Amino acid sequence: MLYKRKFPNTRLRRLRSKSFLRDLVRENVLTGDDLIQPLFIKEDLSGTEEIQTMPGISRFGLDVIEKEIEELLTLGIKSVALFPVINPDKKNADGTEAINQNNLICEAIKNIKASHPEIIIISDVALDPYTDHGHDGIIVNEYVDNDKTLEQLVKQSLTLAESGADIIAPSDMMDGRIKVIRSALEKNDFNNTILLSYAAKYSSKFYGPFRDAVGSSSNLGKASKDEYQMDVANSDEALHEVALDLNEGADIVMVKPGMPYLDIISKVKETFNVPTFAYQVSGEYSMLKSAIDNKWLDSEVIKESLLCFKRAGADAILTYAAKEIIKELN
Ligand code: PBG
Repeated sequence: MLYKRKFPNTRLRRLRSKSFLRDLVRENVLTGDDLIQPLFIKEDLSGTEEIQTMPGISRFGLDVIEKEIEELLTLGIKSVALFPVINPDKKNADGTEAINQNNLICEAIKNIKASHPEIIIISDVALDPYTDHGHDGIIVNEYVDNDKTLEQLVKQSLTLAESGADIIAPSDMMDGRIKVIRSALEKNDFNNTILLSYAAKYSSKFYGPFRDAVGSSSNLGKASKDEYQMDVANSDEALHEVALDLNEGADIVMVKPGMPYLDIISKVKETFNVPTFAYQVSGEYSMLKSAIDNKWLDSEVIKESLLCFKRAGADAILTYAAKEIIKELN
């Protein structure tokens, strides 16, 4: 059909000639409903603390987090993803603080839910904020042991569900974790707890600033997560990961990182037609933001990047710029 269209019968510039026309034929829009704000919460912090590697982003103490949630809700942000920054002396090899019912993140969820029950709370499942080696799982013979880690992830998930998390988001990339977490949730009457699987999560260097933010980079050192996160070179494997997680009971799947991985988002959406989220990760945010702060790029690039996620097929986007961008959209 397309090949029969010829100039000058077809002049594609006709529909670009006026802004109202462009508005009429636009295929995708970005709204506040698409944005999820990730937030770092730090133990024993009062007030906020800037994150060196993420311009404009801070860690929040428990004393100010509810005020931040209130501001986000007023602006129209409906969902947040919480990440804990715990005291180094609470970290150990098995990340046991992750399953402490009164740990930082559980306290935060309970407080936020008590004052703002309507906000949708997404809580990460993975051991890296809690382990003294910085890996997402439990190490046996110098290898992150899949099945031993699963037992801990199940306990962590139940702890988060009990605290009131609406969405549990395993970001650890262990095989079979959606299956065991879903079955534990069902058994414990958490039938409506949503599982957002970081299904296609790549072993990416774009996570650097995040690891600084949660304080896991010094623990991890030069070690990589290649033995469990996906090879950056692969895309068939992403579809296998998504298929498995959907069969195991995931409600939403996620692709991560975002901008260099739009091809994966688009394949996942076209193949499975299920709710698909994207994560514009810390390194992507810091790149854009530092270029904007230096006046090398116009500040509109962030909005552009987020609209491109929509065009690729993402239903919602986790982005550190959510608060800033929704102000512009309003
Ligand atoms: C923890 C986790 C990571 C991110 C989200 N959850 C880091 C990692 O896997 O090392 C990265 C988010 C970002 O870079 O913004 N498993």
